[in-house]
Amino acid sequence: MHARVIGTGSYLPQQILTNYDLEKKLDTSDAWIIERTGIRERHIAAKDETTSDMATRAGRAALDAAGVAPSDVDLILVATATPDRSFPSTACLVQYQLKARRAAAMDISAACSGFLYALSVGVQYIQNKVYQNVLVIGAEKMSRIVDWTDRQTSILFGDGAGALLLSASKQKGVLSTHLHSDGSLWELLYVSDHIKMKGGETFKAAVKAMEQVAREALTHNGMDISDVDFLIPHQANVRIIKTVAERIGFEMTKAIMNIAGCGNTSAASIPVALDEAVRDGRITKGNLLLFLAFGGGLTWGSALVRW
Ligand code: ACO
Repeated sequence: MHARVIGTGSYLPQQILTNYDLEKKLDTSDAWIIERTGIRERHIAAKDETTSDMATRAGRAALDAAGVAPSDVDLILVATATPDRSFPSTACLVQYQLKARRAAAMDISAACSGFLYALSVGVQYIQNKVYQNVLVIGAEKMSRIVDWTDRQTSILFGDGAGALLLSASKQKGVLSTHLHSDGSLWELLYVSDHIKMKGGETFKAAVKAMEQVAREALTHNGMDISDVDFLIPHQANVRIIKTVAERIGFEMTKAIMNIAGCGNTSAASIPVALDEAVRDGRITKGNLLLFLAFGGGLTWGSALVRW
């Protein structure tokens, strides 16, 4: 039994915070932020808008796209570093809001790699014939944990949610997932009240990890980078992505990028970028997609997916 993606969805909050808005509050500039990160603006959730609200909207859109009723969902996984509460899980609140009454629900915590961690969990349940339909969501309200006085980190992050529905199929879909972590490097990127980051070291670790896990995915599947139609990387910094693409010999024009308009939405970034590219028709049936993520933990991972 294989796990195939049969629907995608996403949600971005209405309010937009531009680099020019940040210029007014911080010692920074639009030109610096664009040059160093590739980010122009990011979406910010309303005060009363929660991670579970955004996750529910993205999840509903994925179910609608798949034509699957909430009552047919067996498991809801929400990857998030910004849950509404420590418990109940954000996934339980999504299950309630979606009225997915049969579904089990849990959160997965792996920072910006969370979506690929959640995807890999969903795939195991389907391949082992436990569940038919697994809703995998990445959702974040990063604006809640950003230190808005820190110009190094506050310029990077945004809010949003993305989702996909995995379904049991005889046809191949998710070909592989590979996950890694190195807790000895936790101090590069962590939260205590607010996000703390050693930017330069994180940058270098991200490039190394994503290159390694990309090569691992291709070798595992007996494939070459030229077989990949689209790279969908975690949107942390356009320079990180360009460096990784260069190292693995992938053309940047075939990388799905939305960092300019969204910033780094942590666990939401891959599914939001994916949904945009599916809806605008770039990704079509038969395409081979390589997902790469990296985040706090440290954690990193990949997924190779036949569309
Ligand atoms: N505006 C203007 N100047 C700034 C800003 C800013 N917003 N931020 C830092 N600077 C200054 C610094 O103070 C420094 O000044 P100095 O030379 O006088 O000391 C100078 O710019 C260069 O700073 P660096 O930190 O070396 O700049 P760098 O090119 O490394 O860019 C950045 C910083 C964008 C944070 C980069 O290091 C980066 O993207 N790192 C990785 C971030 C990342 O991937 N995070 C992953 C998050 S994933 C998760 O799990 C949450």
